[in-house]
Amino acid sequence: MIITCPKCGTRYNIDKDRFTKPDPKVRCVKCKNVFVVRVVKKDSPEAAAAGLQSGQSAPVRRPIVDNSPCVTVTVCNQKGGVSKTSTCLNLGVSLAAQGKKVLLVDFDVQANLTNLLHHHGAKSFFDVMGSSDAKLADYILSTDYNVSLLPSNSKMALLAKKHMQQGDFEYLLAEKLIEVKPQFDYIIIDTPPSGDFFTLNSLLASDLAIIPTQSEYLSLNGVEHIIRMITVINEKRGHGLKYKVLVAMYNQEITAANVILNKLKSKYAGNLLDTVVTMDGAVQESHITQKPLLFYKKESKAAQEYMSLANELLALNVK
Ligand SMILES: Nc1ncnc2c1ncn2[C@@H]1O[C@H](COP(=O)(O)OP(=O)(O)O)[C@@H](O)[C@H]1O
Ligand SMILES: [Mg+2]
Repeated sequence: MIITCPKCGTRYNIDKDRFTKPDPKVRCVKCKNVFVVRVVKKDSPEAAAAGLQSGQSAPVRRPIVDNSPCVTVTVCNQKGGVSKTSTCLNLGVSLAAQGKKVLLVDFDVQANLTNLLHHHGAKSFFDVMGSSDAKLADYILSTDYNVSLLPSNSKMALLAKKHMQQGDFEYLLAEKLIEVKPQFDYIIIDTPPSGDFFTLNSLLASDLAIIPTQSEYLSLNGVEHIIRMITVINEKRGHGLKYKVLVAMYNQEITAANVILNKLKSKYAGNLLDTVVTMDGAVQESHITQKPLLFYKKESKAAQEYMSLANELLALNVK
């Protein structure tokens, strides 16, 4: 692989198998500058993020101009069960309670967000892409909770397969969302626990990624994976995608949770959200009753915390 010193421009041809760790540091022989080399493994999520799949010689850059004030947020983590869907739903409903116009996009084949919003079996982005003159607005549904929804269904898996084979998959969502951005203040996208087609499409359509994680050791890997994808997207494609880590399902009774929380605070300093969402049985109960927290038990701790999260997001200068 060819690496170039960012300071003096000297190019080196190095066998990438010499690097045993991710993101190794090297010293330029000529100017002594020390810099990080990003080794992107073939067929990894980072390779897709860099646009190095499908034999592409150069990454595709954002083919659209987005002049709207609408803020698009992807909620993502390669780990499952870390509160992605719960965060999308409750953050979206809390923003709507502050008077914001919110579109929730279910971009996960499991369609949990769609089910929680009582639209099981509705047409999805798969159907939008199936017709050349389809208008995205026609597929957006209203809900009982002042948020709009672009649903998902199991056919979404076919969409990924088809477009990944064709190699034209990266900006499908970004291009379509442009149509409806003037109608919304916030678009919040729920993603599956992977770094594939869906997460990449979502990140490439977004201004900000919120990465929920539990305050436990094994969850930290998932956070690092997404941050690597974001770094590669910004470096290779010229995006200015920001990210924030959200500690969710926090249990202060557990010593290890406090240790990891302190670790997260020092590791992600400016990128860790102040709001911490605690482990609260009301979240699971609200799913059973199929209502967002604000409509199920607005005085619950988690409902209040999601309201704080909405306020924190409103105060962020994302665009
Ligand atoms: N703050 C919380 N307190 C308690 N349970 C939670 C909390 N957030 C999520 N859960 C529960 O954890 C499980 C996974 O949450 P979910 O939002 O579906 O995660 P993901 O979308 O990342 O897979 C669900 O059963 C949900 O009810
Ligand atoms: Mg989910």
